[in-house]
Amino acid sequence: MVKVLAILYRGGEAAKQEPRLLGAIENQLGIRSWLEAQGHEFIVSDDKEGPNSDFQKHIVDAEVLITTPFHPGYLTRDLIEKSKNLKLCVTAGVGSDHVDLNACVERGIQVLEVTGSNVVSVAEHVVMSILLLVRNFVPAHEMIERGDWMVSEVARNAYDLEGKVVGTIGCGRIGYRVLQRLMPFNCKELLYFDYADLPADAAKAINARRVADLKEMVAQCDIVTVNCPLHEGTRGLVNAELLKHFKKGAWIVNTARGAICDKDAIAAALKSGQINGYAGDVWNVQPAPKDHPWRTMKNSIGGGNGMVPHYSGTTLDAQARYAAGTKQILENYFSGKSQEPANVIVGKGKFETKAYGQR
Ligand code: NAI
Repeated sequence: MVKVLAILYRGGEAAKQEPRLLGAIENQLGIRSWLEAQGHEFIVSDDKEGPNSDFQKHIVDAEVLITTPFHPGYLTRDLIEKSKNLKLCVTAGVGSDHVDLNACVERGIQVLEVTGSNVVSVAEHVVMSILLLVRNFVPAHEMIERGDWMVSEVARNAYDLEGKVVGTIGCGRIGYRVLQRLMPFNCKELLYFDYADLPADAAKAINARRVADLKEMVAQCDIVTVNCPLHEGTRGLVNAELLKHFKKGAWIVNTARGAICDKDAIAAALKSGQINGYAGDVWNVQPAPKDHPWRTMKNSIGGGNGMVPHYSGTTLDAQARYAAGTKQILENYFSGKSQEPANVIVGKGKFETKAYGQR
């Protein structure tokens, strides 16, 4: 009998009405009866903060922890030390920065993701966010809801994506798919910054150029999209110093992780006009506090904000994929079968991926 603990987001009425919201506590990734039929114990909760939370109570003796990046159960080194039986952490989705990966390596706790499960979902969201910033969509829609009609007020900051330079920080599964999806827009150039080079045929297929220096890349871009994992080398990467190197009036889209961009530096750059817009769905703490500056920050003419809650990777299509992937990982674990190599972030005592930093 294995104790499995899952920290998921609360779905409320929506999850009762929509059973395909599998990532919510109400629908429990669709695996409760399957787990219980095998005699396993399954604890599911959204209560994750503080010493009396379900997360902290049950982590002490759970063997398997399932979390999602959307409502992250932050598995800190402290909690890892308190966990007596923990052997496997599964991220239902992609992105395991909410887990102290170094501490897991030291303790021999494996960390797996459902690699690829929502990369198309996110890439589509990035393309949408680029368009809504460049075309000044949000203020235009707000104007209509207010009952106003003043074309010049929104057209004064609306552009075409055609002819612009777009660069991605990180060109893995999502970054590559973003550039691939931008091809029909006839951008001037598609650039990428990544310590891993793309295979020559992959780079050629999308006509993308690698720029070896990040400052040099951002200086050439009208639009920068962030698509690398959060780790020691990317925390606070887009900070006041780097922002100085951006083209004045550039747009930023970050669906990777909030903490890759310095929250105050971004708000200040938007206010000063150094950047014209910022959009994404990831925040340095989730749920984001009510007074988080990114909720309400605006450029000098009242636009440039495309922020939403963390949902780009949890479309109903994505949820079906990451729920099935989580079940497969558990099945392999219970039966002792080997795991899909691409899903393994931390194997037994070592990193199995290069995506979380050059080590
Ligand atoms: P991936 O592992 O396929 O690609 C990540 C790429 O980033 C790799 O090519 C890696 O070499 C590169 N990278 C790592 N550190 C870098 C650095 N310092 N500078 C430049 N490049 C660097 O991962 P994938 O599937 O593309 O996902 C990327 C990230 O997107 C995830 O780690 C996660 O944080 C985020 N994500 C967000 C979702 C959402 O719902 N908003 C859903 C899924 C992923």
